[in-house]
Amino acid sequence: MSTQAIGIFDSGIGGTSIFKEINALLPHEHTMYLADSKNAPYGNKSKDEIIALSIKNTELLLEKNCKIIVVACNTATTNAIKTLRETFNVPFIGIEPAIKPAALNTKTKAIGILATKGTLSSDLFHKTTDLYSNGITVIEQVGEGIVPLIEQGKTNSDAMKSLLHEYLKPMLKANIDYLVLGCTHYPYLIPQLLEMLPKHVKIIDSGLAVAKQTKAVLRQHELLNITTQNTKNMFYSNGNVTVLKSILEDKFTVKGLDF
Ligand code: DGL
Repeated sequence: MSTQAIGIFDSGIGGTSIFKEINALLPHEHTMYLADSKNAPYGNKSKDEIIALSIKNTELLLEKNCKIIVVACNTATTNAIKTLRETFNVPFIGIEPAIKPAALNTKTKAIGILATKGTLSSDLFHKTTDLYSNGITVIEQVGEGIVPLIEQGKTNSDAMKSLLHEYLKPMLKANIDYLVLGCTHYPYLIPQLLEMLPKHVKIIDSGLAVAKQTKAVLRQHELLNITTQNTKNMFYSNGNVTVLKSILEDKFTVKGLDF
């Protein structure tokens, strides 16, 4: 079973930021990635819709024989991971906004969180925020419109820049020194964000932590792939394959698939 692939899914291409961390840490693991771009963004959908889509994606990855599922989407994790764990008999790894390190390290006692509406309104997000935000101002900002632009390949557009300017304004006013990226699409905006933010503001996301957790759970279940040959990294998209290809190295296989 250890030679089976790690299954990864997201509402679209953003979870590739998590794939890249996993692939860097676990280069000998086969991976299979589903970009559910047809249904992006998940962030404005109801909890029930997000659960149904997450179940659909998981079923497909399990049909394709994956040994573990990485939910590379904050919105799907915060709304659906409990149901996924109750429904399927494989290990799941989820991703949540990295509030803890930001809250523990802030000097200005103000942190910003940029995430989707679905993540910011979830019970899981509220629980984590309540746990760590004592004495700290947390500026929560819905990144309305950001995911669709990234899905269209417009990461560098003027439209994106004006959205980011608008969303950072209340955070800068509150003098944040940490910006938490609570959506796996957002690491692709780091170059633009660095240009807009004062030097002392640190940007953090959960990508590396997710990769480390994936390794730890695989080890715990004795599922780490110890063979070193012909690693296969497959990507399936039910949306725009060209945009997905453009953010990946050529050596990876990207295919259109209706799911
Ligand atoms: N990458 C997803 C996340 O981490 C984007 C959600 C969406 O599709 O709105 O939340």
